[in-house]
Amino acid sequence: MISFEKMTVNTMKTSINKLKPLSFSRNSNQEISIAGFKLKDLVQTYGSPLYILCEETIRARVNEYKDSFQEFYGEYELVYASKALNCKAICKLMEKESVSLDVVSIGELYTALSVNFPMNKVIFHGNNKSPEEIQACLENNVRIILDNFNDLRLIDELNKSKKEVNIIIRVTPGIECHTHEYIKTGKIDSKFGFNLEDVLDLVAKLKKDYPYIKILGLHSHIGSQIFEMAPQRDAALVLLNKYKEIKEQLGIEMTHLNIGGGLGIKYLESDDPPEIADIVNFSAKAVIEACEKFDLKKPILMMEPGRSLVAPAGITVYRIGNIKDIPNLRKYVCVDGGMADNVRPIMYQAQYLAELDAKDPNKDLETVTIAGKYCESGDVLIKDIKMTKADTDDLLVVFSTGAYNYSMASNYNRATKPAMVLVNRTGHNLIVKRESLDDLLRQDLVPSHLS
Ligand code: LLP
Repeated sequence: MISFEKMTVNTMKTSINKLKPLSFSRNSNQEISIAGFKLKDLVQTYGSPLYILCEETIRARVNEYKDSFQEFYGEYELVYASKALNCKAICKLMEKESVSLDVVSIGELYTALSVNFPMNKVIFHGNNKSPEEIQACLENNVRIILDNFNDLRLIDELNKSKKEVNIIIRVTPGIECHTHEYIKTGKIDSKFGFNLEDVLDLVAKLKKDYPYIKILGLHSHIGSQIFEMAPQRDAALVLLNKYKEIKEQLGIEMTHLNIGGGLGIKYLESDDPPEIADIVNFSAKAVIEACEKFDLKKPILMMEPGRSLVAPAGITVYRIGNIKDIPNLRKYVCVDGGMADNVRPIMYQAQYLAELDAKDPNKDLETVTIAGKYCESGDVLIKDIKMTKADTDDLLVVFSTGAYNYSMASNYNRATKPAMVLVNRTGHNLIVKRESLDDLLRQDLVPSHLS
């Protein structure tokens, strides 16, 4: 294993590591606004539950990444992992910010295509890409993250004219991160990517048998909601060590290095993820030092964050209905949404912060459980939160819901997915319409013998 000196970072930036959207405010009546627009009015216009996204927060976080790459590294490509939240408006916003797009399905690609997102700025991931997906990449000159030999077989079969195909090889670097901890192992049990030990042979094979394939570099992604900086740095170093071998033994110099996404965000005030600037600085330093040490040309450094670009920008507003008090046991405060619009609590035991609109968040505190409305006892959004006493009809805000909420939403119990509105200082715009009851029926058919 390679060892590197301990590196320290010293970024003098103001923190944007806020739990709440940057444009969040409360007036003297404790009414909440986003970018100057009252929640109450937004809900009146668009209904509840409502996903609200603060545009200023997304742009600030994008710019924090971009500025940090410029300051600490040089040539880079910031790629938004759109699985966190993919819809037309977000693709457009990323395009306007000159951010590239990581897609993992024909659906995400189709959304980007529908708004003319520049296809040369898209990369396509996946451990089991379909022929249709590979075909779409080839037709649109989308860079393919080569994950396995099935990808290679499909590329070769479908690329009839043998035109140039740009790929990045995904590897399992032997570093795995489960949120706050990470482990280094020789081999990793993962459905994604090639084993690092096989990469040299793979590159040699590609060079010999697939001359139309252009290998841009290697990729690794070690996990999500990560609070440590060392694992990503270590993964980068493992990859660069391989670059050195590839250069020495095959004479090929990689031009890109993709170190994945994964930076964590604050869901609770006690969460303390690194600053965007710090993770970029830390990784950049490691890459620069390793390139010097291994005599490599500095590659274009790619990072593909999802959550850390959009999660803190998002809130979900619910209306409170039933309040069930079981004396000496528990008080359930029930909202008009739940696991269908935010599956993360039931799926990952994810924790969230919530507050009431128009009530002082520091007064009249009691411990309650925020329950969803879906037919499953486990449909609880927040267990045992200390919150201002709630009444029926109050609006409840859950924070940090910009990532992996809408994108993982379901129609469980035939729920209609909520609307999403993008808010900035000049106005608010509906970017995803609320599903209607007819939307639910759109795909249903009744066979003639039943009608
Ligand atoms: N790149 C690759 C190859 C990934 O698999 C992922 C996330 C990302 C980038 C972006 O990671 P981020 O910066 O968002 O952490 N549904 C889970 C998260 C799954 C993440 C999957 N891969 C959740 O709700 O926490």
